[in-house]
Amino acid sequence: MIRTKAEILVNQEIAPGHFKVVLKLEDFSEPIRAGQFFHIRAGSDYDPLLRRPISVHRTGPTPDIVEILYKVVGKGTRLMSRRSKNTYLDAIGPLGNGFKVPKSQSNFILIAGGMGVAPLVGLCEELAKFRKRSITVIIGAKTKDCVTCKREFKDLGAEVIVVTDDGSEGEKGVSTDMLEPALKQFDLRKDGSSPYTTKDTAQITIGDYCPEVGIYACGPTAMLKAVAKIAKYHRIQTQASLEERMGCGIGACLGCVVKTRTGYKRVCKDGPVFDLEDLIW
Ligand SMILES: Cc1cc2nc3c(=O)[nH]c(=O)nc-3n(C[C@H](O)[C@H](O)[C@H](O)COP(=O)(O)OP(=O)(O)OC[C@H]3O[C@@H](n4cnc5c(N)ncnc54)[C@H](O)[C@@H]3O)c2cc1C
Ligand code: FES
Repeated sequence: MIRTKAEILVNQEIAPGHFKVVLKLEDFSEPIRAGQFFHIRAGSDYDPLLRRPISVHRTGPTPDIVEILYKVVGKGTRLMSRRSKNTYLDAIGPLGNGFKVPKSQSNFILIAGGMGVAPLVGLCEELAKFRKRSITVIIGAKTKDCVTCKREFKDLGAEVIVVTDDGSEGEKGVSTDMLEPALKQFDLRKDGSSPYTTKDTAQITIGDYCPEVGIYACGPTAMLKAVAKIAKYHRIQTQASLEERMGCGIGACLGCVVKTRTGYKRVCKDGPVFDLEDLIW
């Protein structure tokens, strides 16, 4: 983790209120794992005082090039959106743990709500390179205009399912509505019975006979709670990146703690990625 000057090479609005930024980090050669983030000073001075956490969206082609993707929601992100090319952001990172994909997994479901897509593209790139058997990505967005990264996921060979609140693209609903249907592809029982139609579903679940499936989630808390419920029912290992508000970003202020089965944990330092079954909501 280092503090670095990050030159803005590109700051482009790719959808209304959604910006993709390409940064060149000065003297930077640290490895970055999908799911890690940078803590960024949004303005050119100390207003706003607190940095804003933004996930690494993609890396490369050299270690000092990092892409981020953000949505304008308030003062900090609005200021960032107005920063022009060839100016510098003050960034600390890479921070946090990132996703850790177990060797046993080879089929993946990535599920995103809103800007949760940002870190999942980097994860999908890693999975596509090293592990892929199947990758299904569920993108949930408010409207068609807010659907981003579909092309990136498809280019990586993933099957993409889009869900919008108003049905203006893909299915109408929320991303978690599509999680159970997406899991059906792993229902491999030979007798044709399905955990979705039989009464003994509590006895045998997808996770029991298809342990190589992993779910990776990023999005608002309500979405993650719904994912946790489905994942628990099917006993499928699930990791989620949490979008907690942050102060210091480096584990010092305890402003970002969440309750887990092994005590309180700092999202910035111990996360932002957690096994969903460890979280106590
Ligand atoms: C580890 C991590 C990674 C993140 N990665 C991304 C990313 O890749 N792209 C992206 O667009 N956003 C990301 N976020 C969220 C981003 O940090 C906030 O949107 C940003 O800090 C808002 O700053 P602001 O000054 O624009 O808004 P503020 O003026 O601070 O807040 C505006 C509104 O947004 C809400 N808000 C602010 N911060 C958060 C938050 N962390 N979670 C939920 N609601 C919030 C506030 O409650 C308020 O309603 C990430 C958050 C975390 C913790
Ligand atoms: S933001 Fe300070 S401990 Fe996490």
